Amino acid sequence: MARFGRAHKTLEEVDRTRLPRHVAIILDGNGRWAKKRGLPRTAGHAVGVERFRDIIRYCDELGIPFLTVYAFSTENWKRSEEEVSAIMRLLEKYLHEAIDTMEKDNLRLFVLGDQSRLAPVMRELIARTDEISKHTTGTTLGLCLNYGGRDEIVRAARSFAEDCAAGRCRPEDLTEEDFSRRLYTGDFPDPDLMIRPGGELRLSNFLIWQNAYAEMYFTDVLWPDFSRREFDRALIAYQKRSRRFGDVKE
Ligand code: IPE
Ligand code: IPE
Ligand code: MG
Repeated sequence: MARFGRAHKTLEEVDRTRLPRHVAIILDGNGRWAKKRGLPRTAGHAVGVERFRDIIRYCDELGIPFLTVYAFSTENWKRSEEEVSAIMRLLEKYLHEAIDTMEKDNLRLFVLGDQSRLAPVMRELIARTDEISKHTTGTTLGLCLNYGGRDEIVRAARSFAEDCAAGRCRPEDLTEEDFSRRLYTGDFPDPDLMIRPGGELRLSNFLIWQNAYAEMYFTDVLWPDFSRREFDRALIAYQKRSRRFGDVKE
């Protein structure tokens, strides 16, 4: 019976009519993946970028309209200068490639986070991806770079306070929707599914406002090993959840 159960499980497929609109992923486990193979941590980051390219393509094929990935946090500056610059080089290369291919792939790409600490060359590339995204209409990718959930909330609060001080709005008029629009994610819908590979059971300051009602999926698989099949597993798990949003149903 147990064997039958397992065999049955492997045959499960994703129901393409009930996909999440927005999937958020914490790209974690690159360093441990490399260490297990006796490679430098940066080798793990390089393979991690390849995985992430493929998962974007897969979301587009499936018809998932929004994907947000956590690539570099406001806390990740604590790492060695060597590791930080290797990650930045990989992301710079990715942005260059995206600029060349996003029109063909019909990808919208928004870098989310505090750009003030990024190198001018990165900010220049981001301005170009923003420009291209004005006329592409396919899957929207949010690439979180120097992103921190608390930083994002403080900025939104500051921008609202400034508007109030300038007489453009009144504190009592603020709604959750208005506040959401002031976050880096702007008009993105909230994530339906939040995936964290790499075995840690925490949010690490990722989309802490937006994930209020996301379904959480944690796996020990390290990000560089995260295949399309692993993504399917997360979607299948998501499709078994009962989302009640505080109501009583099912
Ligand atoms: C995620 O992998 C990538 C970044 C945080 C930039 P890690 O580098 O955190 O990998 P582990 O967690 O050390 O294995
Ligand atoms: C979260 O991973 C940040 C990113 C994946 C960009 P970390 O590896 O930095 O998180 P902690 O330190 O385990 O919480
Ligand atoms: Mg980590």
